[in-house]
Amino acid sequence: MKLWTGRFHKELDQVTNDFNSSISFDSRMAQEDIEGSIAHATMLGECGIIDPAEAEKICKELEQIGKELQDGTLEIDPQAEDIHTFMEGELTARLGDAGKRLHTARSRNDQVALDVRLYLKKQCETLYGQLHGLVKVLCEKAQQYSGAVMPGYTHLQRAQPITFGHHLLAYGEMFSRDLSRLKDAWNRMNVCPLGSGALAGTTYPLNRFRTAELLGFSGPTHNSLDGVSDRDFCMELASDIAIAMVHLSRFSEEIILWCSWEFKFIELDDAFSTGSSIMPQKKNPDIAELVRGKTGRAIGDLTTLLTMMKGLPLAYNKDMQEDKEAIFDACDTLHMCLTAFVPMVETMRVLPENMRKAAAKGFINATDCADYLVGKGLPFRDAYKITGSLVAYCMEHSKTLETLSLEEYQAHHLLFDSDVYEAISLERCVNGRKVLGGPAPENVSGEAQRLLKELEANSSIHN
Ligand code: ARG
Repeated sequence: MKLWTGRFHKELDQVTNDFNSSISFDSRMAQEDIEGSIAHATMLGECGIIDPAEAEKICKELEQIGKELQDGTLEIDPQAEDIHTFMEGELTARLGDAGKRLHTARSRNDQVALDVRLYLKKQCETLYGQLHGLVKVLCEKAQQYSGAVMPGYTHLQRAQPITFGHHLLAYGEMFSRDLSRLKDAWNRMNVCPLGSGALAGTTYPLNRFRTAELLGFSGPTHNSLDGVSDRDFCMELASDIAIAMVHLSRFSEEIILWCSWEFKFIELDDAFSTGSSIMPQKKNPDIAELVRGKTGRAIGDLTTLLTMMKGLPLAYNKDMQEDKEAIFDACDTLHMCLTAFVPMVETMRVLPENMRKAAAKGFINATDCADYLVGKGLPFRDAYKITGSLVAYCMEHSKTLETLSLEEYQAHHLLFDSDVYEAISLERCVNGRKVLGGPAPENVSGEAQRLLKELEANSSIHN
């Protein structure tokens, strides 16, 4: 039975009913719907808008419905139009007139805006905890490998020596920005739209501060049209999730490269790798690949939300029912990806010898060789040119900067002396990069400690 039967002469066509219905995906907000209704009924009772005794009956029964849904004694009717309609129907079936009074001074429009906020606040908290765990793992690993020399790349070409710890902390920085973005999103969505009604508020003397307080919001929204039609909080969260997924995807791409035979910088634990049905030797980084692949979904979810909202006049339009599947999928995707990704990173075996070997090839100390000449008084641009011709000479004669004789060095410039070998040693190149933000082992340890302290001070989304 539909809510609007007074105005209509026919039942909704079955296929259309299914098309119109959101119960298949909004039933996951059942507990939030109950929470919101309890706060609304409590406030209605306190303000004398409904009989306080009746308000109490409503609250008790809603709690009971919540319990029955949780333990499975009550099932959600898939024929209901949405979770709000189902709850009101169930309550009325149990309480009669008292149930029918719950919707006084409320519309499904402010109700759904409330439920989604309550639900997403919890999602933010969960995702925050997972990302927090990831940054912690990265800091600990970075400390462990603060001195592991590896090649740093630009254009995927060996460029300059860095440390593995430094590389990991680059992701630590990205994910800690994701944490602060989540916190921002949580704070901005932390306002209560209940009382906005369908669009124009209500004539009942509601205490909107009270409902906001009961539900743990910082306060009520301040414009009824905005209260029911704002979905910024969905778009903002989807955008934060898309960015975090892009970070995970870049990291995944590197993990995939690193565990190939061409790199062999790491080996993934068997528990986070898969085999091949035909090639017995294969060990595949499927988890990292799936994370990279699923990033497309998260970007798609953000696009769905932005496109769905862009042409909507104020206030509520049914288009907005489409917000839920997109934002729920985005949350689920990041949640699932982090669930698999964090332990995968935690358990990966790092192979610093192979990193060191790779760093010894590709002339990644050429900049340091040029800097050596600068130290002897040559202008950088000249030093750069001479080092370039040294590299070309090495390639012609299958040598490296380390294996060139001093005579060969001096044939290129007389400023070269026997201390050049020390100056271009990989450890020296890395250790010397002590500038703030640089890859030197002592910097990495210091930055890891700083990040860990920051994590401790921001242990939850609420502080
Ligand atoms: N199921 C609807 C949604 O998710 C609830 C709001 C319905 N409001 C309306 N005026 N039809 O958006």
